[in-house]
Amino acid sequence: MFSYIYIIYCFISIVHAFLHIPNYKCPGEETLRKCLGHRIKGPIYYRKDFAYKSDLLLENNARVVYFPVAFVHPVDVFDVQSAIKCGAKLKFTVIARSGGHSFESYSIGDRDCTLIVDLRYMNKIIIDVTTQTAKIETGNTLDTLYRSLNEHVFAFPGGGCSSIGVGGIILGGGNGYIMRKFGMSCDNILDAQIVLANGTIVNHAKKYPDLFWALRGAGNAGYGIVTTLTIKIYPIQKIVTSMAFTYDFDQAQLVYSVINKLGNSFHQNFTLMIDHRNKTMFQIRGYYLGSLNEAKPHIQELIKLTKPKDESYVEGEWYNAVLENTTGTRNYYKVKSFYINSPGLSYEGVEYLMKFIKNFKCTFWVGIILIGGGRVNEIGRNEMAFVHRGFMYVQTIEAVLDENNYEICLKDLDNFSLVFQKNYTSSESYQNSIDRKLDNWQCRYYGENFGKLVKIKQKYDPNNLFNWNQSIPTNTETSCY
Ligand SMILES: Cc1cc2nc3c(=O)[nH]c(=O)nc-3n(C[C@H](O)[C@H](O)[C@H](O)COP(=O)(O)OP(=O)(O)OC[C@H]3O[C@@H](n4cnc5c(N)ncnc54)[C@H](O)[C@@H]3O)c2cc1C
Ligand SMILES: *[C@@H]1O[C@H](CO)[C@@H](O)[C@H](O)[C@H]1NC(C)=O
Ligand SMILES: *[C@@H]1O[C@H](CO)[C@@H](O)[C@H](O)[C@H]1NC(C)=O
Ligand SMILES: *[C@@H]1O[C@H](CO)[C@@H](O)[C@H](O)[C@H]1NC(C)=O
Ligand SMILES: *[C@@H]1O[C@H](CO)[C@@H](O)[C@H](O)[C@H]1NC(C)=O
Ligand SMILES: *[C@@H]1O[C@H](CO)[C@@H](O)[C@H](O)[C@H]1NC(C)=O
Ligand SMILES: *[C@@H]1O[C@H](CO)[C@@H](O)[C@H](O)[C@H]1NC(C)=O
Ligand SMILES: *[C@@H]1O[C@H](CO)[C@@H](O)[C@H](O)[C@H]1NC(C)=O
Repeated sequence: MFSYIYIIYCFISIVHAFLHIPNYKCPGEETLRKCLGHRIKGPIYYRKDFAYKSDLLLENNARVVYFPVAFVHPVDVFDVQSAIKCGAKLKFTVIARSGGHSFESYSIGDRDCTLIVDLRYMNKIIIDVTTQTAKIETGNTLDTLYRSLNEHVFAFPGGGCSSIGVGGIILGGGNGYIMRKFGMSCDNILDAQIVLANGTIVNHAKKYPDLFWALRGAGNAGYGIVTTLTIKIYPIQKIVTSMAFTYDFDQAQLVYSVINKLGNSFHQNFTLMIDHRNKTMFQIRGYYLGSLNEAKPHIQELIKLTKPKDESYVEGEWYNAVLENTTGTRNYYKVKSFYINSPGLSYEGVEYLMKFIKNFKCTFWVGIILIGGGRVNEIGRNEMAFVHRGFMYVQTIEAVLDENNYEICLKDLDNFSLVFQKNYTSSESYQNSIDRKLDNWQCRYYGENFGKLVKIKQKYDPNNLFNWNQSIPTNTETSCY
């Protein structure tokens, strides 16, 4: 009955990509070297340096590769400031990298010769249990954050893959296993330190209401480099319960219809996800903030109505419940995301999704997290840049494209997603599941908040120093009303 549960959001596999680093110098590189060399205390790696390659390989997604002019590794906020000033003066696009888990490798920009500010050495964490807040530098990963919090029996709502950087995930949203109780990661940002395009260090972004509004949901989309986040943290039970219910593939209609019906009324301590990763079976994975005995009355109806083939429960510390031991390994990822309206995914929608799963030729993971009835929906669409509120589910499809089927899988996934989104889901998508080819991404990621985001971008980064294909632009003709 009690078996160990793997929580997979990261895939485990190996990539054999051979990377040939170009040996030519980027235009302006010599001047840049002089500018940076004087000022930066942390290490800097250029193309000819041995460590440049390992910096490049830290990028989680092997599908997109560019060759930056250099990786700067600041050790403090003044290093970040110096890098930005040199970049701005010498007209290098400047890009922040926290954990390198962008699905489009945007933390190495969108072309060669950008200047990367890798925050990995800025990884302080200061926890204050009396005010229930933490100050964390953005070079931390979820692993280091969760571990430190767990020592104090505190938790923070974030994702499930330990190697994700806190910078990217928290600023762009943050879905995870305790979100029905505590909301998105970005809902729990209390303040931020950020270095702006003109080199100004803003110690308290909160004092700039427009900027602070933008940072919560679009803070990883080109407003500056966030160096520290002040976040709200939550005392947590010593024992929480993770559970997995396993179903035959053809029970899908039943399971979806039950969750569509019960979803909104589940206790907020219960967050669940429907999890598909093969063509024969699937699971509901649930996380209850409390012991198994406390959980039981809240899941009884669900079990009775869905009739799982197998049930397993693990009681343990929050840290072990939400994090697997694996880290996301560099691979050929592609991701799609959808927000599904109430009353949930329709019969035809489930049918279409199951057909896709049956036919898909690459490794995949489909995760549908219940948000209905949870904390995420208690916040208004325009209270902060993160717009996606009031939905029933957030769905992610991750594909690992293997070399033999690369093109076919990509095409199938694109084709499926277009129709699925149009026919069965809302028009919105999740900006942290970033997809370069997504049409109308401005409105899908930011909804009616997009226009205001562009105005704020104009104000804080008028020369578009921080830019890539899907950063917030300084002007636009797109209207999302
Ligand atoms: C294997 C895997 C599992 C995932 N699991 C989850 C999950 O469980 N839940 C979830 O919500 N999402 C998940 N994601 C998506 C993830 O939230 C995003 O990819 C996120 O942006 C990654 O953050 P990062 O710091 O690692 O990425 P990076 O690639 O370093 O950064 C992503 C973007 O943010 C910008 N950025 C990074 N740091 C800063 C900063 N300090 N200041 C300003 N801009 C910055 C970068 O320039 C880049 O454009 C997953 C992704 C992967 C690859
Ligand atoms: C729900 O979780 C909270 C916070 O972790 C805890 O204080 C509370 O007792 C739990 N409630 C129930 C009904 O399990
Ligand atoms: C399919 O997935 C289920 C549940 O996630 C798992 O128990 C089972 O072992 C998997 N089957 C195969 C063939 O991988
Ligand atoms: C993760 O690995 C550590 C050792 O590295 C081990 O002590 C711990 O039990 C593991 N956690 C899980 C959930 O397997
Ligand atoms: C994609 O869809 C179009 C029609 O919408 C169809 O003609 C085409 O064959 C599909 N491609 C794949 C690879 O399924
Ligand atoms: C999607 O909806 C259109 C009508 O809007 C319909 O013609 C089409 O058959 C639907 N496709 C699927 C796969 O359900
Ligand atoms: C930098 O930009 C910010 C925001 O627009 C502004 O408040 C500040 O005065 C600027 N600093 C300098 C030195 O120009
Ligand atoms: C992304 O940006 C690069 C360089 O700025 C450009 O060459 C490329 O065409 C852009 N791609 C898309 C899909 O916009």
